[in-house]
Amino acid sequence: MGRIIIVSNRLPITIHQNGTGFSYRSSAGGLATGLNSMDRSLERVWVGWPGEEITLPAIQEQVLEDLIQDGLVPVFLSKKEIELYYEGFSNKTIWPHFHYFTQYTTYQDDYWEAYSLVNQKFADAIKPILQPDDLVWVHDYQLMLLPAMIREFAPQTSIGFFLHIPFPSYEIFRVLPWREALLKGVLGADQIGFHTFGYMRHFLSAAYRLGGYEHLYGKLRVGHRLINVDVFPMGIDYEKYAHPEIDLYANDDSFKIKQLARNKRIIVSIDRLDYTKGIPQRIKAFEQFIERYPEYIGKVSLVLIAVPSRSNVDNYRKLKQSIDTLVGKINSAYGSFDWMPIQYLYRSLNFNELSTLYQVADIAMITPLRDGMNLVAKEYIAAKDETKRGVLILSEMAGAANELSSALLVNPHDINKMAEVIQQALEMNENEQVWRMETMQQHLKRYNVRHWANTFVQEQKRLMEQQQAFNNM
Ligand code: G6P
Repeated sequence: MGRIIIVSNRLPITIHQNGTGFSYRSSAGGLATGLNSMDRSLERVWVGWPGEEITLPAIQEQVLEDLIQDGLVPVFLSKKEIELYYEGFSNKTIWPHFHYFTQYTTYQDDYWEAYSLVNQKFADAIKPILQPDDLVWVHDYQLMLLPAMIREFAPQTSIGFFLHIPFPSYEIFRVLPWREALLKGVLGADQIGFHTFGYMRHFLSAAYRLGGYEHLYGKLRVGHRLINVDVFPMGIDYEKYAHPEIDLYANDDSFKIKQLARNKRIIVSIDRLDYTKGIPQRIKAFEQFIERYPEYIGKVSLVLIAVPSRSNVDNYRKLKQSIDTLVGKINSAYGSFDWMPIQYLYRSLNFNELSTLYQVADIAMITPLRDGMNLVAKEYIAAKDETKRGVLILSEMAGAANELSSALLVNPHDINKMAEVIQQALEMNENEQVWRMETMQQHLKRYNVRHWANTFVQEQKRLMEQQQAFNNM
């Protein structure tokens, strides 16, 4: 068994060029954490974009040299490629479309061309480093063409593909003019994974209806190849959130977060600022809650953290404006000198602040309109490992709802009902909070991110060995 080559749009590190110099910043997403906690017996190489444009060739060379020591291989993208491939086809075509925001789907040939070219650029970066026994694991919607491109030059290589976002119903998928090419790209893999059974079912249906590919006992037959298609729900690093190493002397806002919760109850809401997350609906539900249950005025605050994301894309900018307006309207109408209904921040939190916020939050309200999985919901549950107190209000439309059925599940479009559920959560007795928490914690402890990554890779490895044995027969 050789190494594992991880390929994702973003590297777990961002490089920022300032003038003729540059600096590194780690981007600690769920994927990076998950893969870091994986079985260390496998040597690992990670191929991806370093997050910003690097214009100077001298810096590119230096970065290449530095990163390779840590097993990282950067794929540099020009400004134009970032605009057309990343902001364009990835985030103005596939992202809205796969999340059922078809009104936002942009149909532009230059986006598609750039998407194909950049996927090829990733393939070209992998080609010279690939060794015969390596196993490749490609991640997410930005790289759907890559599995087939790698298979072109390395037909015997074992390739895995995992989709972190929903795969939509066939009726939605079929609308895309590039549907066959996207499907064919993914079908270059030997193993294809999804977060939920529903996404997998939609994918199998698209494969059958567009390509006539049949599925039997978990295997999809494509020509002479058998592809393993399965469900691998991603977990979190449970212990990290259950027993956080909080730095009491850190120069950040953790202390202020604690103060905030001293004499009022806190509902927390944390997401990237994205139209799929249902932020305006959540705010409206909170507004309706204060209108219908005025006895809570002055006693409960919604702490709304919107993490900046894809801010060059128009729909994200517009959403920011409408959230700003909505929050302003509610705070000015109901706020007083000693209470603000919504504590709204447009920034990211460090781990210290995040853990503190989870700990003080009586309720977490995670109500996306569509979400592949949603790891924030899982982190909140883990953060309550010791106290067992707290209530999760979770959207039925998040992949996580399949596992977290002991949360209070809501339809994120049903604002009346969400207002009612906030009141129900605030009134929930301790026994009920504890049993709900414990049920979900047991599940998340077991099905953590290490389990997710190891299961995917072990399964792929098993397939690869079977294939090799078959070839040697
Ligand atoms: C989602 C996607 C990831 C992506 C992340 C952050 O979780 O599934 O592939 O990396 O959002 O988005 P960004 O565009 O900043 O990489």
